[in-house]
Amino acid sequence: MIDLRGRVALVTGGSRGIGRACVERLAEAGADVVINYLTSREAAQELARAVERRGRRALTVKADVSEPEDVAAMLEHLGERFGRLDILVSNVAGGGFRSLLEASPRHFEATMNTNVRALLSLTQAAYPLLKQSSGLAKVIAMSSHGSHRALPAYGLLGASKAALESLVRHLALELGPQGINFNVVLAGLVPTDSTQHLPEADKFFAANQARLLVRERELTPADVANTVLYLASPLSDLIQGQVIVVDGGATLHG
Ligand SMILES: NC(=O)c1ccc[n+]([C@@H]2O[C@H](COP(=O)([O-])OP(=O)(O)OC[C@H]3O[C@@H](n4cnc5c(N)ncnc54)[C@H](OP(=O)(O)O)[C@@H]3O)[C@@H](O)[C@H]2O)c1
Repeated sequence: MIDLRGRVALVTGGSRGIGRACVERLAEAGADVVINYLTSREAAQELARAVERRGRRALTVKADVSEPEDVAAMLEHLGERFGRLDILVSNVAGGGFRSLLEASPRHFEATMNTNVRALLSLTQAAYPLLKQSSGLAKVIAMSSHGSHRALPAYGLLGASKAALESLVRHLALELGPQGINFNVVLAGLVPTDSTQHLPEADKFFAANQARLLVRERELTPADVANTVLYLASPLSDLIQGQVIVVDGGATLHG
């Protein structure tokens, strides 16, 4: 059993979707959780109350992770409340689905700042708090198959996920010896608010479901959160700088 009692976790974009499932899993395992959100204040607060009903501490923090000043303020607030950070789940992504010919410089910057620079800002701001962790601190970033495959309307997002995975490897190189593990969870197609905006979402989901190599299962946010939980725990201490795919085998076959 994974026991995270006494550990402090921050989940960015914890108010909805996969981030919310990560908050639930980490709190179930005993962690105190800081729930970052941008617009879904009610959802974040309702989730925090659910965490507290489990007997864990919870804090909600509004911060735009694409803005380094917001990230720094969030980590300062977290430090004042908890004094350290053991688990950082960098889950937020943004950018929207569009063709590359329609992508403006503003779209490019927003996508990269939200999906890539955020992890760098978070790590830099969290570093003194991660160093306070007893045992290894764990940083987990969220990626997708767009990092290494070409998908319709996914050019900017895919390029940002490739850069994110590279950033994780280089952070592992620089900070691994100091007691911080950096890994990536690469999720297959999961029903969340964001995937509702996929062009031809229904068709995409049906095709993906047909490709799963697991019997009578759909991929859910909780499946992705289970892998995050593993990477947040001491069971994964020797996993460093890796990408773990959670897609039910959908991309394994031709
Ligand atoms: N769903 C999939 O099929 C899938 C597949 C592979 C990878 N992923 C990855 O999994 C992660 C989560 O995806 P999801 O589908 O769960 O997304 P989602 O349901 O759209 O949720 C996005 C979350 O991010 C927050 N957020 C958005 N922009 C933010 C910002 N600038 N600063 C702070 N918070 C921000 C939202 O907060 P508010 O609601 O408060 O605004 C919300 O909590 C992403 O990295 C995504 O690329 C998803």
